[in-house]
Amino acid sequence: MSSKRQILVTNALPYANAALHLGHVLEYTQTDVWVRFQRMRGHECYYLSADDAHGTAIMLKADEKGISAEQHIADMRAIHEADFKDFLISVDNYHTTHSEENREFSELIYNRLNANGHIAKRDITQAFDPEKNLFLADRYIKGTCPKCKTEDQYGDNCEACGATYSPTDLINPVSAISGATPIEKESTHYFFKLPEFTQFLKDWTRSGAVQPEVANKLGEWLDSGLQEWDISRDAPYFGFEIPDAPGKYFYVWLDAPIGYMASFKNLCDREGMDFDHYWNKDSKTELYHFIGKDIVNFHALFWPAMLSSAEYRTPTKICVHGFVTVNGKKMSKSRGTFINARCYLDHLNPEYLRYYYASKLSGSVEDIDLNLEDFQQKVNSDLVGKVVNIASRCAKFIANGNDGVLSANIENPELWAQVSGAADSIAEHYENRDFSKAIREIMAQADAANEYIAGKEPWKLNKQDGKQQEVQDICSLGINLFRVILTYLKPVLPAMTAAGEEFLNDSLNWDSVQQPLTDHKIEKFKPLMQRIEKDKVDAMVEASKEEAAQAAAKPLEGPLADETLNREPIAEEITFDDFIKVDLRVALIVKANHVEGAEKLLQLILDIGGETRNVFSGIKSSYKPEDLEGRLTVMVANLAPRKMRFGISEGMVLAAGDKKGIYLLEPHSGAQPGQRVT
Ligand code: MSP
Ligand code: ZN
Repeated sequence: MSSKRQILVTNALPYANAALHLGHVLEYTQTDVWVRFQRMRGHECYYLSADDAHGTAIMLKADEKGISAEQHIADMRAIHEADFKDFLISVDNYHTTHSEENREFSELIYNRLNANGHIAKRDITQAFDPEKNLFLADRYIKGTCPKCKTEDQYGDNCEACGATYSPTDLINPVSAISGATPIEKESTHYFFKLPEFTQFLKDWTRSGAVQPEVANKLGEWLDSGLQEWDISRDAPYFGFEIPDAPGKYFYVWLDAPIGYMASFKNLCDREGMDFDHYWNKDSKTELYHFIGKDIVNFHALFWPAMLSSAEYRTPTKICVHGFVTVNGKKMSKSRGTFINARCYLDHLNPEYLRYYYASKLSGSVEDIDLNLEDFQQKVNSDLVGKVVNIASRCAKFIANGNDGVLSANIENPELWAQVSGAADSIAEHYENRDFSKAIREIMAQADAANEYIAGKEPWKLNKQDGKQQEVQDICSLGINLFRVILTYLKPVLPAMTAAGEEFLNDSLNWDSVQQPLTDHKIEKFKPLMQRIEKDKVDAMVEASKEEAAQAAAKPLEGPLADETLNREPIAEEITFDDFIKVDLRVALIVKANHVEGAEKLLQLILDIGGETRNVFSGIKSSYKPEDLEGRLTVMVANLAPRKMRFGISEGMVLAAGDKKGIYLLEPHSGAQPGQRVT
């Protein structure tokens, strides 16, 4: 093996204002698999994480709960740490950005930037909440869109018409926190002079430190010109005060990445390691940050520029991943696909998801779809049907025929050479974070092992006289192939592998598997993994819906309502041409009936201007049939007919709704059945 590398690895520090969800779990799985792989290869690899504890949102959240910010972040940290542990994320240190180490590094780095002339100071005018005595970031201001007049629009763009504007252009602007009318107020801010690092960043982003597609995106930003970065916020703010600037605080994104250093320093102090060896300007050690595509600018522009000015080493690589979608769509609370890490853990084994994510991760920034049906199918067929199956088919013959001792020889040396010889290529895929390729190769080897056993049929040979040794030899090779395959899967499936190690009476390392186990006693076989049952997946989705409904039942005040995704997120943008494909018509409800045997449905007979439609609609919980007759509503008139248990549904009526209730849309009086709605 090449010489021992020294590697520091981080994941993006989760905000201390919300629970972790399955999107976070993707990142932490990706990071953890890579880290475990490096450790297995004999490298020194430290995995660092922390809670990102500062900022206005966290301050307001604590206010709302009526506890101190310190208490709030301590509670969240405990919740996050438990999620990490139960998803088998092997962090070496989990710290917080609200720590003494982080304060010291933040001040030190800021002072160096300042001494190097990289800090500017100037007055800016900003919206201010006179009631809360708080400067308002754009997303904390709402009002009526100056262009289309839609009410209740946040910040600097309208969700209804897409206009962008300055929050000061909003009609009747109000603070989303207090409801007061914001005033304009001047205040001194501190800026990091990012434009001075343009050439440095052009070189750095093309040095192999980011994936090519990320470098291209950054290239566009760099070419269009960088802006100075506002790194200060006015009191009240939950964070660190800027040295020699009373009442001014570091913006959360200044001290958040410094939190990586602080977490490592905390570990160094505990373990007696040399911090500078890893972070000095000329360090030969490696530093990897795993992050999502939404926070690339912070990690690939601001962060390396800050490090370079402060005379620290820059990252070896920023590894950017895409976003998790569930069943092909953005995670959604109402569909029950916004699944919290804890809710998943309450229903399913963490290794199912680790395996599924690994089988989909490719080292690119493309989004990753968690298709719940495919998830169940793939885990059952690969892990239970292929991998565990090898051992369960062979183990009993060894236990019964030879007292659990494996044969002294290898029955099929070519097959052994093939399966154990895949190690280098699988290792390369892991190294490149192309886990999907690694998994594909591992499964191909598992297929080969199963074919071998199926071809030899030891269960038949075992019934023939004089074939006992052959049975032992075949099954011993089977167990040895299982051992190699399990070793390849060890970074992904640490718990299942640990159980396998007990069974094999062996500890699995990347190199040791080149030597087969011969004349070696194994233990009694226990099933290493159960199949995923569909009920459990369904129950998890139901529970997620339930959680979302409960959160929605106690609506939050102000901007947090939006941030914590109380409301279903706005769907992907479509063009006008997409929209116009949907033919909406005013419909008169001529008749409404109960549907026998249907819990939620009503049958509606609709008149859309000389044409009658039969539509089944899930509005029974909120409407009595007799109250609907004679009302106008809006329907999708060109929806493909759907065959339902009760008959054919020829379209769909429009209603708003969630757990709290269902509200049928109704045009203003005067609208005529059959009129097109646009
Ligand atoms: N606190 C900042 C990071 C500071 S790092 C110095 C932050 N926190 S976060 O909680 O919002 O996100 C943490 C990580 O989870 C980010 O890398 C983010 O991209 C990732 N994800 C959040 N939602 C995600 C998905 N739906 N899918 C995949 N990753 C996602 O950003
Ligand atoms: Zn608008």
